[in-house]
Amino acid sequence: MKALLVAGARPNFMKIKPVLDALEARGATTVLVHTGQHYDERMSGVFFDELGIRAPDAHLGVGSGTHAEQTARVMLALEPLVIDEAPDVVVVVGDVNSTLGAALVGAKCGRRVAHVEAGLRSGDWTMPEEVNRVATDRVSDHLLAPSADAVANLRAEGFADERIHLVGNVMIDTLLANLSRARARPVLDRLGLEPGGYGLVTLHRPATVDDPSVLAEVLGALARIAETLPLVFPAHPRVAARLAGAAPAGILVIEPQGYLDFIALEAGARLVLTDSGGVQEETTALGVPCLTLRDNTERPVTVAEGTNVVVGRDPARIVEAAQAVLGRPAGPGTTPTRRPALWDGRAAERIADVLLAAR
Ligand code: UD1
Ligand code: UDP
Repeated sequence: MKALLVAGARPNFMKIKPVLDALEARGATTVLVHTGQHYDERMSGVFFDELGIRAPDAHLGVGSGTHAEQTARVMLALEPLVIDEAPDVVVVVGDVNSTLGAALVGAKCGRRVAHVEAGLRSGDWTMPEEVNRVATDRVSDHLLAPSADAVANLRAEGFADERIHLVGNVMIDTLLANLSRARARPVLDRLGLEPGGYGLVTLHRPATVDDPSVLAEVLGALARIAETLPLVFPAHPRVAARLAGAAPAGILVIEPQGYLDFIALEAGARLVLTDSGGVQEETTALGVPCLTLRDNTERPVTVAEGTNVVVGRDPARIVEAAQAVLGRPAGPGTTPTRRPALWDGRAAERIADVLLAAR
């Protein structure tokens, strides 16, 4: 069995790694393609180094651009490769532009397409990722769902049961495989942080950071929280330039962190404030309180069963929610959480079994 696996942006790399390993462990031939959507060392290379992902077999070099430019460049560069390699299956992960571009090419080249993280829905069509999720699922043969809500979404959209597989969460495979290495990193000491004595912030969604007035309001809320809890903010390139010189006192803005240091920061935080998808999942698995600064989430299981609270972008509500967390006891075991079903570190094995059985 030959699988061509596509990754392109930061949240893809930790998802593709366990799938690549599980397929290879079962004797599949793999072709790893990096689209180049993310290209900075801190957004791409560091994940290959730290997670031991081999150098991609092909690099498409698509870089940044508008949605149409980025998606089209992925398609133009990938099509000849898929024709040449003729894989049995094209595997795509997540919801970024590279995911959609690659899924469309796989389907139009007559290959089977497998979508890892199928079925997540925010119901918010203003999110570019929601368009990518829905369109990718529509052209996928194997819908590999991370949670029961995702299965329910796919059924409600009319997908046949035989295409849907509840496999669990590959993000958590990589988290569990690397947690002890991450906890051993000296990053807290390096930044002068005490375990449980700081909050961790990530923001990069266009809806949070592209409108200066929205960003200013959110930063104002963070400044209020920072009066009682120091905040550390690894800044994604989309927001970094906007923060230069504008970060309020009490917020330590740092470069995007490598995977191990970021997980160490997450695991040691008193509170995480984010608009990231993956961070909502990791904090649930770690039992660390998470406030999601969005109006909705495509990952409702992190609210129903985990530590996540969706608080929106209203500054008063963000501050109130943070104070509620800080008013509760802290420390191991104090945040009630159930790890969602099949977030057990073995999702990629189940995915590989599905793909090999379908030959
Ligand atoms: C993309 C994904 C988003 C995901 C995020 C994870 C889409 C539509 N968006 O958003 O779903 O949550 O990645 O991080 O696919 N840039 C750099 N260096 C890089 C990469 C990007 O400086 O290595 C800058 C460029 O100015 C670029 C901007 O960041 O224009 C945005 O990059 P892009 O890939 O278009 O979207 P993200 O906001 O990163
Ligand atoms: N992450 C990281 N360094 C950072 C910020 C995030 O390694 O500075 C990791 C995080 O642990 C998670 C993934 O990147 O595994 C989430 O990616 P991101 O927030 O960029 O995208 P999203 O999940 O929102 O699509």
